[in-house]
Amino acid sequence: VLESLKGIRRGRLRIAVASTANYFATRLLAAFCRRYPGISFSLEVTNREGLLRALEANEKDLVIMGRPPESLDLEAEPFMDNPLVVIAAPDHPLAGADEVSWERLQQEAFVVREEGSGTRIAMERHFASRGVKLRTGMELSSNEAIKRAVEVGMGLGIVSIHTLELELETGRLVVLRAEAFPIPRHWYLVHRRGKRLSPVALAFRDFVFEEAGSLVGSGPARAPAAE
Ligand code: PGA
Repeated sequence: VLESLKGIRRGRLRIAVASTANYFATRLLAAFCRRYPGISFSLEVTNREGLLRALEANEKDLVIMGRPPESLDLEAEPFMDNPLVVIAAPDHPLAGADEVSWERLQQEAFVVREEGSGTRIAMERHFASRGVKLRTGMELSSNEAIKRAVEVGMGLGIVSIHTLELELETGRLVVLRAEAFPIPRHWYLVHRRGKRLSPVALAFRDFVFEEAGSLVGSGPARAPAAE
């Protein structure tokens, strides 16, 4: 026990997180570093495809991402909800609607994330499971780019609620109350099966399970009712 405490005091943590998780990962890390001030860390931020590559290469202690494929030999533990919502500019015709029907939603243009993004895959699966092929003419490779494009009226977007804290606070974007949304997803802590986690990595895993809910929360899954 003493040995492992010493390990935590001086250890180094190598983690990688989905670009969508970066919005809360730094908050988790900051709180973790306050609890264990001696540790150092590296944080890589990339999309799902990049994370799967990092796992394959066994380069990281832990990865935070959406559900990984069953085909890889990984351990994946869910620790928090990750609802995907439809966003629009505040002056979009659907912005104030009580409920946007699925039929109506299909007529809209969407800006979408790049191939290899977990958000993109979840969104495509969601539409495909309802028999609709998503029109994906406008592709942007980050959550920030998606939000800016939606803000200037290029279309609707689908993003994790966790990317929206600032935009909802300032009213630059709104979450539509749309039929069949939010898409329910979860965040997972992932590592290779059988990997021996270092004392710091074990401490971080415990910390995420204990604290993620209160440090992050899921935010409003839908826009608040008109007041
Ligand atoms: P991403 O998020 O869209 O940035 O790849 C990862 C995920 O949701 O799995």
